[in-house]
Amino acid sequence: MATLRCPLIAGNWKMNLDHLQSIAFVQKLGWALKDAKYVESNVEVALFPPFTDLRSVQTLINADSLPFAFGAQDLSMFDDGAHTGDISGLFLKALECSYVIVGHSERRADHSEDDAIVAAKSRAAIRHSLVPIVCVGETAEDLETHGAAKIPVEQLTKVLEALDAKDNYVVAYEPVWAIGSGQAATPDQANDVAAALRETIAQVHGSERAEATRILYGGSVKAANIASLMKRPDVDGALVGGASLDVSEFSSIIQFPKHVTLDS
Ligand code: PGA
Repeated sequence: MATLRCPLIAGNWKMNLDHLQSIAFVQKLGWALKDAKYVESNVEVALFPPFTDLRSVQTLINADSLPFAFGAQDLSMFDDGAHTGDISGLFLKALECSYVIVGHSERRADHSEDDAIVAAKSRAAIRHSLVPIVCVGETAEDLETHGAAKIPVEQLTKVLEALDAKDNYVVAYEPVWAIGSGQAATPDQANDVAAALRETIAQVHGSERAEATRILYGGSVKAANIASLMKRPDVDGALVGGASLDVSEFSSIIQFPKHVTLDS
């Protein structure tokens, strides 16, 4: 973790927690962090609830001045019109979302989203001043055939070519084989691919942009492995799925600087 880049811990709830459950969850997380004397400036926390929860989460965060950013798990590549079931970046911005996840491997697999679609969605995010968290990652088969970095680098290159060096974006390296499997990449594996992704950003958008860009790791992140991941120089945070649904586990992940020396 480089000191210049503020670490980002992002909780991807996927299709879990309805709007009432989301309110209870966010309240409990706020209390847990307050009890733990969490200092907001050290780590940025962002929550990614389902679309139907966003208004409730926004209202609660604003009313209680909770130290959380929030965003959506997807957006349309279009701004408005005849796109039944899709959600515009305009609507997300109106709900004060800061971020939006694009190209998650579950969207790529369940909705056949290819790199061109992910690039168009990233552009849509930027158009509405949302920071896209661009997800890339190799399957177990890709890993076997090409090694770890080739596919994520190709996926990211296609998105970067559609963006500008001045655009604000975050990258999430999420090996598909590590998502929900309980088998996280080792800190060295995660760092090697993050370094290759940073090098790709340097090639396409220049070294200044590469140095400033946060690269997250995602895939079976837990309180027990976050500290060792965050010790690596190119890992600037985590995109957390399953463990972000458990208040005490997620609040412990957010407080990784406290246990960074216990685990390596
Ligand atoms: P996981 O999911 O933490 O449950 O492995 C991560 C993700 O899909 O973003």
